Amino acid sequence: MILVLWSSPNDGGLTAACAHAAEKGIDGAGGECKLYKLDGAIIGSCHACGNGWGTCRDGHVCQVQDGFQALHEEVKKAESLVAVTPVYWGDMSESAKNFFDRLRRCEALLGQKGELHGKPFLAVAAAGGSGNGTLSCLTQMERLAMHIGLRMFDGIPVKRFTRQYQLNTVECAAAALVSEIKK
Ligand SMILES: Cc1cc2nc3c(=O)[nH]c(=O)nc-3n(C[C@H](O)[C@H](O)[C@H](O)COP(=O)(O)O)c2cc1C
Repeated sequence: MILVLWSSPNDGGLTAACAHAAEKGIDGAGGECKLYKLDGAIIGSCHACGNGWGTCRDGHVCQVQDGFQALHEEVKKAESLVAVTPVYWGDMSESAKNFFDRLRRCEALLGQKGELHGKPFLAVAAAGGSGNGTLSCLTQMERLAMHIGLRMFDGIPVKRFTRQYQLNTVECAAAALVSEIKK
C-alpha cells in the first residue's frame, strides 16, 4: 500500500490535483493507494513535552493523544509514502508540519530499526501563488525524509504555470513507486 498524505484545505486546488494525479499513477500501475487528507484531521502540533522530549525519544510514540497515533500506524504499515503539500511561505503547510514534526520525533532515533527505514518517499510541493518557494519546501521535505529514515525517491516542484505538465510528472513518479516497492 502506498499512502498519499496531502495537506490543503482546498478540495479543488492545485494540491488536491497533485494528490489525485499520484493516486491515478498508483492505480494505473496496479498498486494500492490510500489517500489521506491532513487538513481537517485532528492532529495538533508537538507540545515539546517535558524538558523538550516526551515519550517520543525513548518510547517512539507521541504522548499527546489525538489523531496522530492512528495515522502513525498507517504510515508504518505503508510500503511507500507520498507527501503533497501546498507551498506556504516557502515551506510545508501547517497541517503537514504538525504531523511530520511529531512523526520525526517518534522515528528519528530508531535508525535502521525504524519501520520507515529505506522506504521510498515522493515529495510534491505545490505553489499556487508566485511560484517561489518550491525548492526550499522540497529541501525541508528532503531533510525530514533523511531524519526519519525514508529514502528520497524524488521531489517534484509544481507551480500553477507548470501544472499541465507537472501533473503528468507526478502521475509517472507515483507509478514508478509501484515498481520500486516490488524490487
Ligand atoms: C499562508 C500562505 C502562504 C503562501 N506562500 C506561498 C509561497 O511561498 N509561494 C507560492 O507560490 N505560493 C504561496 N501561497 C499560495 C499557495 O501555494 C497556493 O494557495 C497553493 O495553490 C495552495 O494549494 P491549493 O491550491 O491546494 O490551495 C501561499 C498561500 C498561503 C495561504
